Amino acid sequence: MRLDEQTRPDFPILQRIVNGRPLVYFDSGASSQKPRAVIEAMSQYYERSHANVHRSIHTLGEEATELYELARDAVQRFIGAASREEVIFTRGTTDGLGLIAETIGRTLAKGDEIVVTELEHHSNLIPWQLVARDRGAALKAVPILPDGTVDLAALDRLLTPRTRVVAFAHVSNVLGTILPVTEIVRRARTVNAITVVDGAQAAPHLRLDMSALECDFYVFSAHKMLGPTGIGVMYGRRAVLDSLEPGRGGSEMIKEVWIDHAQWNDLPWRFEPGTPPIAEAVGLTAAIEYLEKLGMDRVAEHERALTRQTLEGLARIPGVTLYGPPTAERGAVVSFTVQGLHPHDVAALLDAEGIAVRAGHHCAMPLMRRLGVVGTSRATFSVFNSPDEVSLFLATVAGLHSAL
Ligand SMILES: Cc1ncc(COP(=O)(O)O)c(C=O)c1O
Repeated sequence: MRLDEQTRPDFPILQRIVNGRPLVYFDSGASSQKPRAVIEAMSQYYERSHANVHRSIHTLGEEATELYELARDAVQRFIGAASREEVIFTRGTTDGLGLIAETIGRTLAKGDEIVVTELEHHSNLIPWQLVARDRGAALKAVPILPDGTVDLAALDRLLTPRTRVVAFAHVSNVLGTILPVTEIVRRARTVNAITVVDGAQAAPHLRLDMSALECDFYVFSAHKMLGPTGIGVMYGRRAVLDSLEPGRGGSEMIKEVWIDHAQWNDLPWRFEPGTPPIAEAVGLTAAIEYLEKLGMDRVAEHERALTRQTLEGLARIPGVTLYGPPTAERGAVVSFTVQGLHPHDVAALLDAEGIAVRAGHHCAMPLMRRLGVVGTSRATFSVFNSPDEVSLFLATVAGLHSAL
């Protein structure tokens, strides 16, 4: 059975009729839909076990703590982290990247250098801009090549003994480009830079293995991988986490407090101040178990097939321009423009047919500038999307001019 045939009954929202048509949801790159298992795990938690974690000795407090910590084990397994202490819960990718930037930022000196790439989401750019401004550090960007890949020779030229951080996406949210993580990490290591990977668009689609990627930090959001909003993961390599002071303070991250100083808690709680997203952690466990049951290799293969079908189909439509590597070996992302139509108009016309795509700058304005466009329309796929939906989408795009 095809993956979408197996999964579609699990997603209640796919019953929606939008503008008189069955919903075709091609916007999982912004936020995916949720299977019933995730929705039910969260409501069951609220109905049976809710309490605060790590501080109450009563039964519900212990149940909630156990459920919250089970999520950490699930994430550790899902991303191949060496230990559960390396898994820190955040509010999402943006929050995780901000936390890393603030934490590392404190160790930066005037003249230090931070390297990003030209295709970064603003979430992996603005935190570094803020840190660079505060610390007098320089921010440099690795350019992209015309085929949407990153210019590794330029990266080599940008790396210097003052490079302290190399921060980059695993998968571009606009181009779908899969960046060669291990290759970039290896180069960054030659100057002892800390590597930070934005995995927001990779975690939902690719089998992850932190021990193979060898990066220092890896960040992603649950809501793009069938889980709830409000929770994300910051993986940090143990040796690096041990070497850093916590970036943010409050309850949970301390052992002992005096008026003028404090003793930090052990990992991973040292980086988790305040009441964490507990129900969301329960939902994330359910999402991971759901993906694991499907098998990430099968998920990747299914989404690759949809991406290939979309790329090939759009390439045949006159007036359509495609962006990114000319191959389906990319994330489940296809960005395109239609000659004579603003990307927002394309999205609105598709919405009138029940098809949800995203349009705009995709929080990647420097990349839009490099591509020479105001924005693009973007279709992104998940486990529940079908080849028939792609065919309908292609026929609708082909008919857009006549709809004007
Ligand atoms: C590559 C990338 N990085 C970061 C983000 C930000 O994720 P969040 O809004 O969950 O913090 C996104 C999501 O749009 C993304 O695609």
